[in-house]
Amino acid sequence: MTFKQDIIDALTLAYPQILTFENLASELMASQERVVKSVTELQEQNYPISTQGRDIHLAYPLLSVPAILKQLETDFIGKPVQLHARLDSTNSYAKENLTDLINGEIILAHEQTAGKGRLGRNWTSPAGASISLSLVLKSDIPFERIPLLTQLTAASLVKALDAWADVKIKWPNDIILNNKKIAGVLVETEFSGRSLKGIVIGIGINTNVDQMDIPEDLQSKATSIREEKAGEIDPNKLVARFLKHFENFYVAFLGSQHTEPFLSICREQSVLIGKDYWIIDKEQKRKASIRTIDPTGGLVVTYHDTNKTEVITSTDLSIRGEHTYV
Ligand code: BTN
Repeated sequence: MTFKQDIIDALTLAYPQILTFENLASELMASQERVVKSVTELQEQNYPISTQGRDIHLAYPLLSVPAILKQLETDFIGKPVQLHARLDSTNSYAKENLTDLINGEIILAHEQTAGKGRLGRNWTSPAGASISLSLVLKSDIPFERIPLLTQLTAASLVKALDAWADVKIKWPNDIILNNKKIAGVLVETEFSGRSLKGIVIGIGINTNVDQMDIPEDLQSKATSIREEKAGEIDPNKLVARFLKHFENFYVAFLGSQHTEPFLSICREQSVLIGKDYWIIDKEQKRKASIRTIDPTGGLVVTYHDTNKTEVITSTDLSIRGEHTYV
């Protein structure tokens, strides 16, 4: 991918300026034939590159390491950044290569062929239209505090996305815009015997996905930021903003065990709190009033059948409205 990524980098750094094949060839010190061949291949792989005569430009910026680094203001989160053209899953890649990856390193892919969602679901990541990111953490976090990382990540996404939209959180891991899902978080752990080798925080964001590329069964539940806001989004700015907010919350969380800075955002932006929902697990479906998120990151609910208030910590369940997703 390197030469093709060089083309993507040049077009993204120039965006919204239109370049010519001559510009690109001389900038990349390559022949125009080579540039034309690679651009054609990228177009065949559905990257949003438009050409007209000698002119060439992007419909919207694409993931690019130099473009992220230009905007990145972190000390260690997002350092270094790996960007792949296509992976089965950035989380699987990070877990398989964990020994060689360092604390804070991120793996990005333009496209995933077997993206994983929560509850064993698939996650679709079309080429160049979505962000697939896995962040590797190698810190000693007590096992029972690991679920808090999902809430920390969700709050970081809310803050990062507030440059574009007022997004909400559906506990535990869905990011919602206009009552539809635009992003999700999947935290995975890797153990060596009983000791924690590392944590992989996977984030999938539908930035510029077309509604027609969203699988049919998810059409009523999922959307993209571009579809909802009718405008394109720069994935590099979003990634840099996310990493900075994540680092701020994470350093406070590790150092002083502060959870309120991010849990308060999860409560304020919750689509669930104050409403009634069905809590559905493998065995049963129970109606509950959603009260709050407690200091451990659990969901506090009052079940209608028993009138008892309990804290839900398991994320192996679905939460649904009467006939709606949110
Ligand atoms: C969910 O909402 O169910 C979680 C979706 C998480 C998707 C991301 S995309 C990057 C990372 N790699 C994966 O295979 N999954 C996560």
